[in-house]
Amino acid sequence: MKEKILITGGCGFIGSHTACVLLESGYEVVIIDNLSNSKVEVIDKIKKISSKEVTFYEGDVCDKKLLKKIFKQEKIDVVIHFAAFKAVGESVKLPLKYYRNNLDTTLSLLEVMNEFNCKRLVFSSSATVYGSPKSLPIKEDFPLSTTNPYGTTKLMIEQILKDLAKSDPTWSIAILRYFNPIGAHESGLIGENPNDIPNNLMPYIVKVANKELEILSIFGSDYDTKDGTGVRDYIHVMDLAKGHEKAIEKVLAETKIDCYNLGTGEGYSVLELVETFKRVNNVDVPYKIVERRPGDIAACYADPTYAYKELGFKAERGIEEMCKDAYHFVEKNK
Ligand code: WQD
Repeated sequence: MKEKILITGGCGFIGSHTACVLLESGYEVVIIDNLSNSKVEVIDKIKKISSKEVTFYEGDVCDKKLLKKIFKQEKIDVVIHFAAFKAVGESVKLPLKYYRNNLDTTLSLLEVMNEFNCKRLVFSSSATVYGSPKSLPIKEDFPLSTTNPYGTTKLMIEQILKDLAKSDPTWSIAILRYFNPIGAHESGLIGENPNDIPNNLMPYIVKVANKELEILSIFGSDYDTKDGTGVRDYIHVMDLAKGHEKAIEKVLAETKIDCYNLGTGEGYSVLELVETFKRVNNVDVPYKIVERRPGDIAACYADPTYAYKELGFKAERGIEEMCKDAYHFVEKNK
């Protein structure tokens, strides 16, 4: 058996796919999740996909008593910290909920990790910390700025981690800045299926294709982009999961703190994604162009070369596979 990895928020979209990749690579996996934005059924699906056992603790990462119990019972080698609230729009309406939760969970986790001398961490950050980039593609040393409380919690936590590593260089930390994760495991057993009206583009497209929602609103077609609609770097969630395995290898091999973009380096517009989705799934996705969404930027895509050089990470799956897998998941779970 390889090392034992604690995954906070491991029942979530990216956490569950990462758990499958780690189990299949021979790591032991322990999950803590309060199921506030996920379902306990995901645990059995992870076991089914990987044919491996998973240890699950239902609870909140703010609960230091529970965290101490876990670290006492399990010899944790590395922690991947996903657990957080992540809806940009909700964070604007309820900033205190976001600052309290996203900071409290992280501080509680770091204090208990410190107490148990477990100082290897992979942190789930986001390309949103780059704000509106001055040029493209985006490199890790670009200026950081945020335009919403969700993004600001990620930026604040990055700063906390940098200060912690400076105060105690025995911490080994990989900060992963995700671009736009979409798609689902090829089995269709796990994927992204928000219970309420989706904020993000792909889950919305899927629900329109599946006739759960009537029509897609495309937020603006007057951006300075190839067809006027927003351009983003979509990355398959299975590639993103693989990136976490590479980050675990890194924090086990070296003791330092560093940041890595996890993207493909390719930018696709909203219209390109919609047309690709319709073509590969042979399904209609009615849409209408409406006004811009406040806070949106025109274009955002990664320079993936540093993650390749430092982690040996390179996304392999293309936009067509992302569209196919995203729809297959919902079709299989109708
Ligand atoms: C993508 C494009 C929209 C919905 C956010 C967060 C980021 C991360 C991913 C958490 C944009 C357009 C969208 C719709 C549309 N979240 N769009 N109609 O805003 O790039 O990133 O989600 O980690 O931190 O910032 O993703 O999917 O919301 O939007 O036209 O119904 O699709 O304008 O151009 P975004 P998104």
